[in-house]
This record gives sequence, C-alpha cells and structure tokens, in this order.
Amino acid sequence: MRSAGVSETTEAEPAIAEVEAIGFRRLTYADLPAVLSIERRSFPAPWSLAMFVLEVSKPSGVCLAAVAGDEIVGYLVCSRYADVYHLMNVAVDPDLRRRGVAARMIERMLDEGGRDERYTLEVRVSNHPAIAMYERLGFRRAGRRRRYYGDNGEDAMIMWLGDPGP
Ligand SMILES: CC(C)(COP(=O)(O)OP(=O)(O)OC[C@H]1O[C@@H](n2cnc3c(N)ncnc32)[C@H](O)[C@@H]1OP(=O)(O)O)[C@@H](O)C(=O)NCCC(=O)NCCS
Repeated sequence: MRSAGVSETTEAEPAIAEVEAIGFRRLTYADLPAVLSIERRSFPAPWSLAMFVLEVSKPSGVCLAAVAGDEIVGYLVCSRYADVYHLMNVAVDPDLRRRGVAARMIERMLDEGGRDERYTLEVRVSNHPAIAMYERLGFRRAGRRRRYYGDNGEDAMIMWLGDPGP
C-alpha cells in the first residue's frame, strides 16, 4: 500500500450526532469524485481516477465507503491476489480523523473478507499514525521493502494480519 508522510490534525469539531451517524457500504463508481477529493488531501502521490476505477471493478476485492448522510467521509480499497488480501488504500476526511472511522471501516473489511483470511499491506515507515492504527487492529510488522516509494525513496513497512507464510 501507499501512504501519506504526515497526518493532519483538525480544528473542525463535527456534532457528535454527525460522527455517530457514519455508516459503511460498498464503494461505487459514483463515489469516486468525492473519494478523489479526500485522496488529494491525504497523500503526497495521490491515486488517479483510473486507479480507483480499476480496483472498484474487481469483483474479488472489498472496497468500502464511510458515509455521513450523503457525504463520503472515508474509503478503503482492499484487493485479493491469489489467496491473500492486500489493503491498498485507506483514508479519512482530514476533518473527521481520530474518531474511529478508519478502524471501524477496517473491522468491516475483515467481516466482509473473512476473519480467517490473510491480509497484508505496505505503509511508509514515517507514517506513525497509520502504523499505530494497524498494530492496534492486530497487524504485525514483517520487514521492509527498501526504497519502495518512488516520490522520495522511502522504505515501506510490510505488515500482516494472519500468517505471513514463507
Ligand atoms: C491513517 C488514517 C486512515 C486513520 O484514520 P482515522 O479515522 O483517523 O483513524 P481512527 O480514528 O480509526 O484511529 C484508530 C487508532 O489508530 C491510531 N491512530 C490513528 N491516528 C493516529 C494519530 N494521528 N496518531 C497516533 N495514533 C493514531 C490510534 O491508536 C487510534 O485509536 P485512538 O484514537 O483510540 O487512540 C488517517 O489518518 C488518514 O486518512 N491518513 C492519511 C492517509 C493515510 O496515511 N492512510 C494510510 C495509508 S497506509
């Protein structure tokens, strides 16, 4: 997976009711303009529309939207290759972070993909918020990919939930 280098804090405080009203459903093509808006505020090297279209079109993956009313406030893209799920992308609207949205979305992904399946991801070694979140959800560190990120040559941390295998 790719990842942001820096996490934003926010000053916007949505009403409690707004946070509690957040729900989760499958991501659709119609959601992608809103997804791109969050993507561009979340990553130094954002995915293109074509990359999201390709992932959403794969029937074996789990692509989720977090929604508050009609508004997309987060998304997750998880693809299946062979017998392993790869968490490729997850982001939450900068104004709604640190309220459990991503953690709940990943729990939903595990429910839909299967709790006995194996999951892996790559994350920038500097992305401490994301690494903390993944560890809290049970992912474990399993080595590095050297200079994985083309924009700055940063290493990726490889993480697994379930047996990493040989
Ligand atoms: C990483 C990201 C998806 C987390 O989304 P979120 O909805 O804010 O995360 P949650 O509120 O569900 O956090 C769950 C746990 O993760 C950890 N965590 C999340 N953000 C953190 C931060 N900024 N600092 C430290 N720990 C953090 C905490 O343990 C948190 O639990 P707590 O709030 O009870 O302490 C969000 O910061 C984001 O969109 N970042 C930019 C994109 C990105 O880096 N995506 C990951 C790519 S690998």
